[in-house]
Amino acid sequence: MVATAPHPAVDRAAAQRWVFGYGSLIWKAEFRFHERRRAALHGWMRRFWQGSHDHRGTPDAPGRVVTLVTAGGDETTASPCVGVAYRVDEDVFPHLDYREKNGYQRVDVNIRLLPTGAVVRGVTYVAEPSNRAFLGPATLDEIAAQIRRSHGPSGSNTHYLLALQEALAQLDTADEHVDALARRIRTLVA
Ligand code: SIN
Repeated sequence: MVATAPHPAVDRAAAQRWVFGYGSLIWKAEFRFHERRRAALHGWMRRFWQGSHDHRGTPDAPGRVVTLVTAGGDETTASPCVGVAYRVDEDVFPHLDYREKNGYQRVDVNIRLLPTGAVVRGVTYVAEPSNRAFLGPATLDEIAAQIRRSHGPSGSNTHYLLALQEALAQLDTADEHVDALARRIRTLVA
């Protein structure tokens, strides 16, 4: 039998993957990508429930950043989490895994690309409740106060929240949880 090398085009496509970003990956894309699309993930909600020890806080004084939690319902009942999907080369993942190392794991998901509605298979980074930095739910006032006082090597936690709100506005979408926290932060800052 004669061994044949894969066609270069097939090879290239196989070495690429979609990754869905719903937090800082929306507005801080410091990695190479082939395509960036507004996109939606059904069955998940964005929540400021993950502790940040390495970007927007420290191990002693963690900040709060977003993770995804299951929303329940199906595509017809639950509103999707809107963010951005990037088509990237496989070799971008070591950088992304390092950046998301404080408790996030890659999870396989179906990503709906907008506006066409085409569904592609990809990954997103989720910080599950079992990770050591997970903080979980708290009142909006408590979360806002923690964000307001937290700083880390990547900057202030307030900047993370307001940059996310702005990025969502640029995607022509809004997230009630993010907006409620941003309102509280603006009051605290004023
Ligand atoms: C993401 O942006 O998709 C993950 C959470 C974050 O890094 O803010």
